[in-house]
This record gives sequence, structure tokens and C-alpha cells, in this order.
Amino acid sequence: MAWIQIHLTTDRPSVPLAELLLESLGALSITMEDAADEPMLEPTLGTTPLWHQTRVTGLFPEHSNPEQLSRDIHNGLPPTSPFELEVERLADQVWERVWMDDFHPMCFGHRLWIAPEGQPPEDPEAITVQLDPGLAFGTGTHPTTALCLNWLDRTDIAGASIIDFGCGSGILSVAALLLGANRVTAIDHDPQALQATADNALKNRVRDNLIILDNNQPLSTSADITMANILASTLIELEPLLASHTKSGGQIILSGILEEQSDVVISAFTDNFQIESPTTQEGWVLLHGMRR
Ligand SMILES: C[S@@+](CC[C@H](N)C(=O)[O-])C[C@H]1O[C@@H](n2cnc3c(N)ncnc32)[C@H](O)[C@@H]1O
Repeated sequence: MAWIQIHLTTDRPSVPLAELLLESLGALSITMEDAADEPMLEPTLGTTPLWHQTRVTGLFPEHSNPEQLSRDIHNGLPPTSPFELEVERLADQVWERVWMDDFHPMCFGHRLWIAPEGQPPEDPEAITVQLDPGLAFGTGTHPTTALCLNWLDRTDIAGASIIDFGCGSGILSVAALLLGANRVTAIDHDPQALQATADNALKNRVRDNLIILDNNQPLSTSADITMANILASTLIELEPLLASHTKSGGQIILSGILEEQSDVVISAFTDNFQIESPTTQEGWVLLHGMRR
């Protein structure tokens, strides 16, 4: 079945009107997305902030009349409203699988692979994380995750205890266990991330060595390696907690930091950690440090 999409690009205050109009004309679903380039990195849990310029899209069945829909929209809008209208015909696809078209096995370092389930890499030496991120962050395509995966691949972590703070899909936790870590504690404040982490650990048969915690649950262990791929401001807030759960002489891996934020993060961690020079990828930085 094909579809018709009506896009209305508008400013933030006019979004509710666009939504109401599309709904009243029989849209089967309504989507909002960034119409300019205004990334929103990790909005506060429970909030759904909108962009200054938002594209509101209504999905209509194939038999709808796009010319009539356009006329109805023009008639329903106040004459001075800041709307841009676009009509698109959408061919049918297997929608549940579309995102997988861009998700192929990816290699990090020498032997660590991330692959969608059922698509093993053609590398006999591969250590493969089979991943379904569900609704959580972490497929390896983002440089902040890639920096951590490359670090895991080139480091001897055999037998180590690890904390993965902000585990998302569980990608780092599962990779660490497959690379020989003894025990990983994965923590996140997002229930969807905890669910994805549990599912991915089961899929990769490492669930027995993984502890999964909501960040309200007490963290009683100290780790040989603490990893956190979150935003710079959150890392700085979490420094006392991360320091208190990293063993003396243990290591810390910090990611999610833009190049220009690197100095401020280093200075927040420098009392408790000896931080080495940053590793950079596409404007993002990974910091590695030793607990004093
Ligand atoms: C950028 S994602 C990283 C996911 C995964 N570790 C990776 O490397 O791809 C950051 C994760 O941290 C979680 N997070 C953000 N702030 C947090 C906090 N204060 N406490 C616990 N988790 C947090 C988010 O829910 C998200 O899953």
C-alpha cells in the first residue's frame, strides 16, 4: 500500500495548529522533526521539546486526494500564518525493516564487530555483538560509541570488572563481556535502555555476567574500568559518583564530549584522575584516565 504525506513546516508556536489541522483532515499519523539543523541531544526524561523550525508531517491513505487536502489546509490556516506546504507520494515498503537497510556489520579496531541479528560478518576472527538497539541509543554508527568500541578492541580487558554508565542499547556492556570482561554493571535512567540492554545481553549469551541497574538503585561495586558515554555536562555532574566507584589505579573512559568541551571535562576530572591526551573522531573526543 502506498501513502500520501503532507508536510507543513512552521515555527514552534504554530505546531499545535498544524497538528490539529492534519488530524482533523484524517491523518493516520503525525510526525514532527527538525526542519533546520538544531540537534537536541538527550532532552530531559519525560519532556518532548520542539525545534524552532519544525516539520509536521501527516500520513494519509493512498486514496486521499492531495489537491483537495492542500486546498483544505490553505483554507484552515490563518492568512498570515508561517506555513510551508509540501505534498509527497510514498511508495510501499516493509517499514519495520527500513532502518536495517543502513545497518550492516561494522568493524571497530581489529576484531570487534557490531552486526544486526542474522547478518554475521565474513571474518573468522570476529568477535561479534549481535545488536538490536530497540528504542535506545547505541548502534555504533555514532562517533561517541565508535570511540569507545575502538578503545575496548585495543585494550586488554580480560577478567576486568566494568561499569557502563549510560548503557543505552547495552552495546558497550555486551562488547566488553564478549571481549573477556568478568562482570559488567550497566546503568541507565531510561527504562527503554535497560530493556534493550537486557535483550541484547540475552541475544549474545552474556546475561549471566551482567548486572543492570536503574540509576536510582544503589551501586555497591567499584570497578577496574568505568565507562560513560553521556554528554559533557552530565559527565561533570557525575564525576564524584564515577570517581567513587572506580578502583584506585583503575581506568576511566569518558565519551560524548565535543572537542571544544574537552578542557572543561578534563579539569573536572583531574583531581581524581590522571587524564591522557584526547582521542578524536569527527569532532567528538574520548578521554582516558587512571584513578589516582
Ligand atoms: C549517548 S547514550 C550512550 C549509549 C551507549 N553507552 C553508547 O555508547 O552508545 C547515553 C545514555 O546515557 C543515558 N543517561 C543520560 N543521563 C543519564 C544519567 N544521569 N543517569 C543515567 N543514565 C543517563 C541515556 O539514557 C542514554 O541511554
